[in-house]
Amino acid sequence: MLAESLQKVIGDFIRRHDSDAGELVLNAPDCWQVDGRFRLVDGHYRLRNLSLGDEENLCRFGQQLGEHSREMFCPYPWSDAEACTQAFRRAVAQSLKKIDASYLLEHEGNPFGHFFLWKAGGNPLSQRTGLEIPELGVAIADSYQEKGFGGLAVRILQTVAVSLKADAIELTTAATNDAGWQAYQRAGFEYVGMIRIPLEVDVTAADLGHVTATRFRTERHMVYLISTAKRDDVMRFLKGKHA
Ligand SMILES: CC(C)(COP(=O)(O)OP(=O)(O)OC[C@H]1O[C@@H](n2cnc3c(N)ncnc32)[C@H](O)[C@@H]1OP(=O)(O)O)[C@@H](O)C(=O)NCCC(=O)NCCS
Repeated sequence: MLAESLQKVIGDFIRRHDSDAGELVLNAPDCWQVDGRFRLVDGHYRLRNLSLGDEENLCRFGQQLGEHSREMFCPYPWSDAEACTQAFRRAVAQSLKKIDASYLLEHEGNPFGHFFLWKAGGNPLSQRTGLEIPELGVAIADSYQEKGFGGLAVRILQTVAVSLKADAIELTTAATNDAGWQAYQRAGFEYVGMIRIPLEVDVTAADLGHVTATRFRTERHMVYLISTAKRDDVMRFLKGKHA
């Protein structure tokens, strides 16, 4: 089911992007084993899970984010190289342990996109209220932005969350982040309210008290509802975080 849905999402993107593009070759028995390859006019692209040894690729990816992008996308402590290496190690481990569904998009081997659903394998916090709600993060390298890849990444993550039977996806985005706001609204996310979040850490781990943050920011809190029948419960859970 995941493979079929991803085939459609990525196939639609390819056709919109480049009508002469080659076929997508996709292997995706589940969201923990995704490998998709396609060709656009400017070369070969690959979508794959964050895997063993990808710490270096996360570093290469981070080097392609300018100051503004780093400020908007800060699950990692960009200004502290040593702490960043630790955080990349943790991100890879969380992907391998099937806790976070985490991905890279590569162009000719260059990792230019990174996106994830924290706690896709089960979110102990939302489970306390009988809900499964992973948290979304996404960034595209500066020189690849505004070409549709961010929208594609969000749709891939929505497809992954549906395949995992999640009830909803939550995210936060800085009040000044027009690109993020547009991309999320276009993908069907709705605004829930403003929320104070920890920066430079896994927000879901901070919610559970597993890590401690030193920087915080008040951001827009958004949700993409999957189980519409659970709308009231999802909203109650999310708004409960605003206090
Ligand atoms: C946010 C981000 C992921 C969007 O990815 P992208 O590849 O640039 O966006 P897309 O080309 O897929 O465009 C998605 C939508 O956002 C709009 N958009 C993109 N950049 C925009 C900008 N700078 N200002 C306003 N709207 C913008 C597009 O027009 C498109 O809407 P449309 O379908 O109505 O045309 C990307 O800009 C990014 O990585 N930014 C830095 C990190 C970041 O902010 N991450 C999100 C943290 S919450």
